[in-house]
Amino acid sequence: MKKLTSEQLRQTYLKFFQSKGHAVIPSASLIPENDPSVLFTTAGMHPLVPYLLGEKHPAGKRLTDVQKCVRTGDIEEVGDLSHCTFFEMLGNWSLGDYFNEEAIRWSFEFLTGEDYLAIPVSKLAVTVFAGDEDAPRDEHSAKIWEECGIAKDHIFYLPKKNNWWIAGKTGPCGPDTEMFIIRDQEPCSENCDPSCDCGRYLEIWNNVFMQFYRHEDGSYTKLSQRNVDTGMGLERTLCTINGTASVYDTDLFEGAKAKIEELTGKTYGQDAEETRAFRIILDHIRTATFMLGDYRGIVPSNVDQGYILRRLIRRAVRFSKQLGLAGGNLRNVASCFVQKYKDVYPELAANEQKIYQELDKEEEKYGKALEEGLKEFNKVVTHIPGTVFPGKTAFRLYDTYGFPLEMTEELAKEKGFTVDVEGYKNAFSEHQKKSSAGAEQKFKGGLADTSEATAHLHTATHLMQAALKKVLDPSVSQRGSNITVERLRFDFNFPRPMTAEEIAKVEQLVNEAIQAKVDVVMEEMTVEQAKEQGAIGLFESKYGDKVKVYTMGEFSKEICGGPHAKNTGDLGKFKIVKEQSSSSGVRRIKAILEK
Ligand code: ALA
Repeated sequence: MKKLTSEQLRQTYLKFFQSKGHAVIPSASLIPENDPSVLFTTAGMHPLVPYLLGEKHPAGKRLTDVQKCVRTGDIEEVGDLSHCTFFEMLGNWSLGDYFNEEAIRWSFEFLTGEDYLAIPVSKLAVTVFAGDEDAPRDEHSAKIWEECGIAKDHIFYLPKKNNWWIAGKTGPCGPDTEMFIIRDQEPCSENCDPSCDCGRYLEIWNNVFMQFYRHEDGSYTKLSQRNVDTGMGLERTLCTINGTASVYDTDLFEGAKAKIEELTGKTYGQDAEETRAFRIILDHIRTATFMLGDYRGIVPSNVDQGYILRRLIRRAVRFSKQLGLAGGNLRNVASCFVQKYKDVYPELAANEQKIYQELDKEEEKYGKALEEGLKEFNKVVTHIPGTVFPGKTAFRLYDTYGFPLEMTEELAKEKGFTVDVEGYKNAFSEHQKKSSAGAEQKFKGGLADTSEATAHLHTATHLMQAALKKVLDPSVSQRGSNITVERLRFDFNFPRPMTAEEIAKVEQLVNEAIQAKVDVVMEEMTVEQAKEQGAIGLFESKYGDKVKVYTMGEFSKEICGGPHAKNTGDLGKFKIVKEQSSSSGVRRIKAILEK
């Protein structure tokens, strides 16, 4: 196998697909644009959903990129050999262009070619879809693999559970073919195959043949075009080709790891518990650095993305204490990641100071919260009868003061109590159900809900942002947007609550624009042209040079990925239902369209 650094692997991949006619597009933000269904970009395909559904992409039909992703579903697993909450996904796409034949042949060439990963064919295994009532057995893909040189007994047919890919519950999807490295480890049984988690097979790449849309009721319809969506995890692939013991032994973590060793005097890899703490700090601070440094950056808070970020930083603080990393050092670990990644992700350098300041601030806040929590613990514990510390109380300590369960358990033990952990868990999931906090899996509307209702709310959001600039201040701009079929939610910078008059005025301006029945016109242009024309929106050119600009008469001109109404007259009556604080210096509006 070819030994490559992270930088070489990214470049080798992009160049390979460039040579096959793909346009290289930059990574999109970690925070999905116009998509209420997920908190973070969880796969390379995520920002491309509108294009998989048939919209024309400005860069063409063949795309390749390295996309930054966050998945926090397995946060408790971080600390083992392979789990990370942040990762980069190498991907290539066909948007209604080539299909499985080319995708498989190119994957094979990249995996085995001397100039690329040079993985021996005998070390590769692949899976294909076994077929069911929704789609046929993928004998065609199996045949192509065989023609490439994969032995028949290294090709496995697996059911939907394993070989069908979808982000969430609804959206574009299809059968896939997955590629595995066979490690030097005997099969665990006669039935050992790539779906087995014994460790013999390590998945490194997935090619999804996206040709269906899964609806809320579980039914499938064909998409207007046949797409290919692929994903190769950078960390895992690096670990595999370089033969490192874990993803934390790849060059991505080298600098930060050495920094923690220097600051603590501990050596990574010597003690199992300490190594776990090292990995958790490395993982969480890397993810926090990317969240804070994103050009759609977020800050710690108690809801949605900000909540996940808060949780990551606070966990890193806890494990820092365990490892003996003194307070105030998270910024020094983060700084190693900024240095390591800034050439690939310049937004990290641009937001460097913000990253450090927010880490310091959150660490301090957490310290205070813990003190408060301790006081509260000592107060409540004297009133608890018996020897069981109620789960609900433990959850309240956690929820209000950020007081971790383990800490409550420890203190309770000292006082002769045991914590009702089941009760804690119940209170926790109850809370998760009620609020969206932590609900990364909230795929309510499925990915990229393109229904009419959401399109109308997108259009209303543009009109509202324009009205806010007029009524409040021209410097007011978007800090976050989230749209469901029922309502829009819009965060913007403004230092105080809006008055009732200001709210009424914004409603009036938006409703006037609706009554004016102006066409919503979309034009593709370069970022520079958009700027010249006075369009608002995020100017980081995410998709290469060209961006989409939506114009609504004189009312609004904004860069956006869509979808939108055709005419403002379709919108109905605009109404602001809530105006509240979102975080310091940021207000949040929830608004609806009445028929
Ligand atoms: N979207 C596919 C995945 O994330 C490629 O595995």
